[in-house]
Amino acid sequence: MSGGPILVFDSGVGGLSVVTALRHQLPEAALAYACDNAMLPYGLREDNWLVARILRVCEAAVSASRCVTLVVACNTASTLALDALRSRLAIPVVGTVPAIKPAAASSRSGHFGLLATSATVARPYTLGLIEAFAAHCRVTRVAADELVREAERWLAGEAPDPAVIRRALAPLWEDPLLDTVVLGCTHFPLLRDFLAAAAPREIAWIDSSEAIARRTAQVARGVAPRRGPGESHVTALDPRLTAALARFGFAEPRLLVLD
Ligand code: DGL
Repeated sequence: MSGGPILVFDSGVGGLSVVTALRHQLPEAALAYACDNAMLPYGLREDNWLVARILRVCEAAVSASRCVTLVVACNTASTLALDALRSRLAIPVVGTVPAIKPAAASSRSGHFGLLATSATVARPYTLGLIEAFAAHCRVTRVAADELVREAERWLAGEAPDPAVIRRALAPLWEDPLLDTVVLGCTHFPLLRDFLAAAAPREIAWIDSSEAIARRTAQVARGVAPRRGPGESHVTALDPRLTAALARFGFAEPRLLVLD
């Protein structure tokens, strides 16, 4: 057996923020990328539809890439479909959930924000994390689905719209003591500099990518060595996505065949 890659999955380019952390943690590992860009954004879709879709796309991508581990680099998918994925797949599945615990531990004021998709901010999984780790904190949950599009545009080579970013962040600043923001969508770290520039004061922006990379290093077995660009799989061919994937070290994407 020659081993296989670690497959990183997201609805779109958000998983590339996790790819950066994985490359840092596992520089010798072969990575593959899969995204369901035909159905982006996931954060505005209905739960039952989403679970079925995520299973279908991930099963197809796992089989096409012959990967040894799946990293679900999407909070919206992980907070909903991790159990279903784990029961259907025979390989380790690493999920991405909002970094509520580290934010609660590091916020000095105990007031922090959660910036994520509409789906993630309202999920029982997320509310459970807040109850378990941040019951003593004041948590401002803000749905910012429009930032998913801005991150897609940014990686496609267009500058994000500062007015959209300002509007999306505005509800956070209603709490004058808020000092930390959890980036609970993997698209958002790609916009970190723009978010920081739009903030009225110094804020600690926390995401889960380093923790996911560490967890992946613990569970991944039989990973093939990195040789040349990794393969990538998409649900819609788009030259701008191809260019973004190439900048992160992935080869020309192949169209996923879904059963
Ligand atoms: N990147 C995804 C996440 O982490 C979701 C983006 C979307 O709404 O498709 O939540």
